[in-house]
Amino acid sequence: MSFKNLISFEEISENSSNFLDIDSRPNWEELFGNRNPLNLEIGFGVGNFIIEMGIREPSENFIGIDFYHKGIRKVITRIAKYEICNARIVYGDAKEKIPLLFNAEELNRVYINFPDPWPKKRHHKRRLIKPDFIKILVEKLKRGGEIYIATDHEAYAMEILDFFKNELLLKNKNGIGVFLSQKQGIPKSKYEKKFIQAGERIFYLEFEK
Ligand SMILES: C[S@@+](CC[C@H](N)C(=O)[O-])C[C@H]1O[C@@H](n2cnc3c(N)ncnc32)[C@H](O)[C@@H]1O
Repeated sequence: MSFKNLISFEEISENSSNFLDIDSRPNWEELFGNRNPLNLEIGFGVGNFIIEMGIREPSENFIGIDFYHKGIRKVITRIAKYEICNARIVYGDAKEKIPLLFNAEELNRVYINFPDPWPKKRHHKRRLIKPDFIKILVEKLKRGGEIYIATDHEAYAMEILDFFKNELLLKNKNGIGVFLSQKQGIPKSKYEKKFIQAGERIFYLEFEK
C-alpha cells in the first residue's frame, strides 16, 4: 500500500463507520443494530451490486470485502450519500478475512460477481475460487444458505462447477453441472452490465447448503 493510500484509508476509517479494516470478528449484531441475516459480497469492485442490494433489501445486512482502493472509496462515498444503514465494507483479501470475521454457519448468502478469471494457464493458481476456499464458504454458510457466482469466462465456470460437484454439503440449485445464462430481478454489477452490453455469454452458478 502506498503512503498516499495509507493516509486516505486512515481518513476513511476515522470518518466512516461503514469502513472496517479489521482482523477479528466484530459483533455484527451490535454493528448493524439488529440480528438481520448477513449476506456477503466478495470482490464488489465499484460496489453497484452491494449498494443496490442494500437499498432493495432493507431487512437484510450486506458486507462487502475487496482490496481495490479506488472501488472502496467510491462505495463508501455512495453508502454515505444514499444513507444506506445495512451495508459495511471490509478492506482486505477474502481468503484471509472470511475465516477471521465470521462464525460458522452465520452467512445467509454469498455473492461472487465476476471474479478475476486469470485466463493464462500459468496464472490459474491466482484464481479465487478453489476447493479450499469453497470449504471456508461452506463452513461459514448457514444451513439453507446460498452461494451465487457469475462469470463470463466459460473455462473458469466449468472449473467452478467441477469443484462444487465435489463439495458434498452443497447442491447445485439448477441441477448437477447446470448453470443459468440469464438472471432477472436482481441488481447487475458493473462488469455484468458491460458484458451484457457487449453481447458476451454469462454463466450464473447457484448453490445451496
Ligand atoms: C473483475 S472485478 C469484478 C468487480 C465486480 N464484482 C463487478 O462484477 O463489477 C473482481 C474484483 O474482485 C476483487 N478481488 C479479487 N481477488 C480478491 C480477493 N482475494 N479478496 C477480495 N477481493 C478480491 C478485485 O479487487 C476486483 O474488485
